[in-house]
Amino acid sequence: MTESSPRDGLQSLGVFVPTEAKIGLINDLAEAGAKSFDAVSFVNPKAVPQMADGAEVIAGVEDREGLEMIGLVPNMKGFEAALAAGVDTIGLLTAASDEFNQRNINATVDESMHRIRRILLEVPQGVNTRAYISTATHCPFEGEQEPDWVAHLVETLLDWGAESVYLGDTIGKATTAHIERLLADVFKVATPEQLGVHLHDTYGQALANTMVALDHGISRMDTSAGGLGGCPYAPGATGNLATEDLLYLLDGLGIAHGISMGGVAEVGSEFCESHGLGYNSRAGKAWLASQESE
Ligand code: HMG
Ligand code: MG
Repeated sequence: MTESSPRDGLQSLGVFVPTEAKIGLINDLAEAGAKSFDAVSFVNPKAVPQMADGAEVIAGVEDREGLEMIGLVPNMKGFEAALAAGVDTIGLLTAASDEFNQRNINATVDESMHRIRRILLEVPQGVNTRAYISTATHCPFEGEQEPDWVAHLVETLLDWGAESVYLGDTIGKATTAHIERLLADVFKVATPEQLGVHLHDTYGQALANTMVALDHGISRMDTSAGGLGGCPYAPGATGNLATEDLLYLLDGLGIAHGISMGGVAEVGSEFCESHGLGYNSRAGKAWLASQESE
């Protein structure tokens, strides 16, 4: 599991979260057992001012041993900055649809795929990679995406050396039927071990959709403490699947994950409260209420 709250959770906020608070969020979630972090992005600070302090955030994380810090990069400049900052994993960025990709990173899908290819050729030994395909089910501008097109992108990215490919439901519109259809095509070109899901919860479907991925053997998933998240270029999209909600489900299924659901709920709710943000994990709220009534 990857904790997306430090990057996806914060990138759309209008108010700048101080660097120390970002570092504190990562340290506290690590304390609760999170190991992998969608930590920062290296993008144009004029486009996304919230992520301007990516290098400082990475440098400030305590006790990096055993933790994975992922830096999302849209281009070669971001890649170089991410390497200089010492990230463990490079997150590569494309979308399935041109219109979203243009608005997000000023590139057609074809252009961003070729940027990724050039970056993959330069990744040094010891640095991991994962590629994100945003709008893998729905684009806010172009509507539903064709699963076979997304499967083609997955195949190409793996062929070029991406270690894993994450399917993004950027606007949280997919239902389990969409995920089933997408995976049916994607499994023609990739194994479950090569795939991850990054599902926003706008329509309240992310937990059900994640369960479909899990049922198909996909164990890589991005979630955000307190359901934080959104994309500045995806109007109306809300946060990622709340980490606490998935942990509650995994606990019920007896699937080990090494993360304290209550610990994440405490960190997430305190972070949201101190930054004036809505805390959107239903399982987290229920757990916190149960602690108060004890
Ligand atoms: P561009 O305008 O085409 O870039 O933007 P450019 O190369 O023409 O450069 C323009 C300016 O940006 C220059 O600075 C560059 O130095 C600077 P100026 O001369 O004006 O001072 N620049 C950079 N600065 C820092 N880091 C860089 C970088 N590259 C150029 N890497 C660009 C292209 C991609 C940079 C821009 O569109 C951008 O930054 N977009 C932000 C995209 C973003 O952060 N989106 C949110 C993350 S994606 C997401 O959330 C989806 C995901 O969660 C999955 C899902 O939900 O599906 C991952
Ligand atoms: Mg996202």
